Amino acid sequence: MSNRQGHPKDRGLNRDQAMQLSDDDFKFICQFVYENTGIVLNDSKREMLYRRLTRIVRDRKLNSFSEYSQLLRDQGDKEKDFFINAITTNLTSFFRENHHFEYLTKEEIPALLKSKTAGSDGKKRLRIWSSASSTGEEPYSIAITLLEAMKKDLPHWDIKILATDIDSEVLAKGKAGVYDVNRIEDIPQKIKQGYFFQGRGKSSQSVKVHDKLQSIITFKQLNLLHEWPIKGPFDAIFCRNVIIYFDKKTQHELFARYFELLAPGGLLFLGHSENLGNYQQYFSNVGRTIFRKPY
Ligand SMILES: C[S@@+](CC[C@H](N)C(=O)[O-])C[C@H]1O[C@@H](n2cnc3c(N)ncnc32)[C@H](O)[C@@H]1O
Repeated sequence: MSNRQGHPKDRGLNRDQAMQLSDDDFKFICQFVYENTGIVLNDSKREMLYRRLTRIVRDRKLNSFSEYSQLLRDQGDKEKDFFINAITTNLTSFFRENHHFEYLTKEEIPALLKSKTAGSDGKKRLRIWSSASSTGEEPYSIAITLLEAMKKDLPHWDIKILATDIDSEVLAKGKAGVYDVNRIEDIPQKIKQGYFFQGRGKSSQSVKVHDKLQSIITFKQLNLLHEWPIKGPFDAIFCRNVIIYFDKKTQHELFARYFELLAPGGLLFLGHSENLGNYQQYFSNVGRTIFRKPY
């Protein structure tokens, strides 16, 4: 969770109407966020919370943070969903931590092309889960990587990517697959041409992802803390830049659940500043923040 000034979710703060965030309200909000998302907010996040809350309180035409705390208690799921969307940090980009996509291209996909056998439908099954997919850049990067690396073998494969997030707004954006053109400025020209349509006229500053990517990705809302109505097994799970917001206990519980859902030999990808802690003993470390469940 970033407390940078200028975060999109922090815009619109009116400093003239500064209010007090009492310790009680801060404690209530932190507990509320923890219980509903697993995200741990501590004193270092107080300023960020203050900025985002001020905006919400003003938009709701309330007079204090206490009134908003009460609203959260009284209003049930609608306000809760809105608040969770406002509190999550969704920073992401296409091919973020590119070494993960290089590993798929150079190591994993060539190995899977050799080792996977076809099922009764005559197809080889590949399942990948992007478990905190934010606005979709991560699952689309996975899809592009697969399509590029598998090319002529694609007709023999049944590929599905599940993309989930707690935040309904980012999921809607991911599903739409429309991005500002500057989001793909660092992508090689060949990839831009093959997987993105450039908008025209009023939309000339936007690009839309190609249908061939959308056809293999399903976006669904899922809270990592809740039940997962998911069968698996997955050949790879991306859990990047989300567990950093959780405490050790929540992280450990998640790793155990990921482990269960991974196929033998399946891969777990974590974010650059994340690690498996005590759970490392159950996986082998095959690359930078890449972990393999034993065969
Ligand atoms: C910083 S983004 C990471 C996006 C992407 N994985 C990446 O590395 O670029 C973190 C995402 O985790 C999501 N998130 C936070 N708590 C969650 C929870 N309890 N369940 C599911 N998603 C959660 C947020 O909504 C946000 O979109």
